[in-house]
Amino acid sequence: MKIQDIQNLSVQMGIQADFRGKDGVQRFLDNKKKKFQRLSLSEQDEFDKEELENPYMDSGVFNVSDDKEIKRVLVGIDIEPAEILLADKLGNIDLVIAHHPEGRGLAQLADVMHLQADVLSQYGVPINIAESLMKVRISEVARGVNAINHQRSVDMARILGVNLMGSHTPTDNLAAKFLKNLVEERKPETVGEIISLLKELPEYQEAMKIGVGPKIFVGNPENRVGKIAVSEITGGTEGSTKMYEKMSQAGIGTVIAMHTSEEHRKEAEAAHINIVIAGHMSSDSLGMNLLMDALEKQGVEIIACSGFTRFSRVNK
Ligand SMILES: [Fe+2]
Repeated sequence: MKIQDIQNLSVQMGIQADFRGKDGVQRFLDNKKKKFQRLSLSEQDEFDKEELENPYMDSGVFNVSDDKEIKRVLVGIDIEPAEILLADKLGNIDLVIAHHPEGRGLAQLADVMHLQADVLSQYGVPINIAESLMKVRISEVARGVNAINHQRSVDMARILGVNLMGSHTPTDNLAAKFLKNLVEERKPETVGEIISLLKELPEYQEAMKIGVGPKIFVGNPENRVGKIAVSEITGGTEGSTKMYEKMSQAGIGTVIAMHTSEEHRKEAEAAHINIVIAGHMSSDSLGMNLLMDALEKQGVEIIACSGFTRFSRVNK
């Protein structure tokens, strides 16, 4: 496999697991195309054409120094200059794969957040409310990531000749779908039962060893779950704090999230919504593992670093 093959596979698997469905993702891309066609020629010139093809602009190929056959990859949740140096020091790494966005992926993180409005509407929040609250939050995040030193790791990769790509929302989609299927199959009745269910997964077992296993941030183990929303696993980063009241009105009783801010937690509590925190690095690892399994099947060797706990589900 070449780097672009891995990127294509990541996008393709991300679409398959996307809560919007294939049609929903296509609609998102079609809207981009319509927007592009309305631009003036000079504006079209400035437009990043990859946006018309890639529904996950927080992910992609960030540096190609040697477009070789990829046999060994170094995979981490946060790839910073230190991890690029590590790849260089190890010396036998064909490609570094990051989970959290790098370079222009980080600059365009807010673009993937539109999917949250669709996910919320699937759980019963009227789309007009979800869209209007997300619109405010999306522009907040876009401004928030604007000042970051986006290219730091990418520059390091370029100078040292290390190939670099990232898969953020595609693998978060894989984790979200996996957890949604699990909850729908096993139908936990109490918040405590959700925690027990999560603790069966090796990524969360690994996290428990260092004290960051699944936790209840709002509610009690004996609370009944009501309608469970797996709405805070994918979609870039945390959504609007004002959403919980609307989710509560839409009949959502429990939210499974990767992580949450104190402000979000308080709003959820005020809206009587139980919050189960699955865990951040562990949930990111779950999604990355599902993509890495597809690479392993192609004979690619995977070396884990930077918070990524590798667990293979190939042949299981
Ligand atoms: Fe993350």
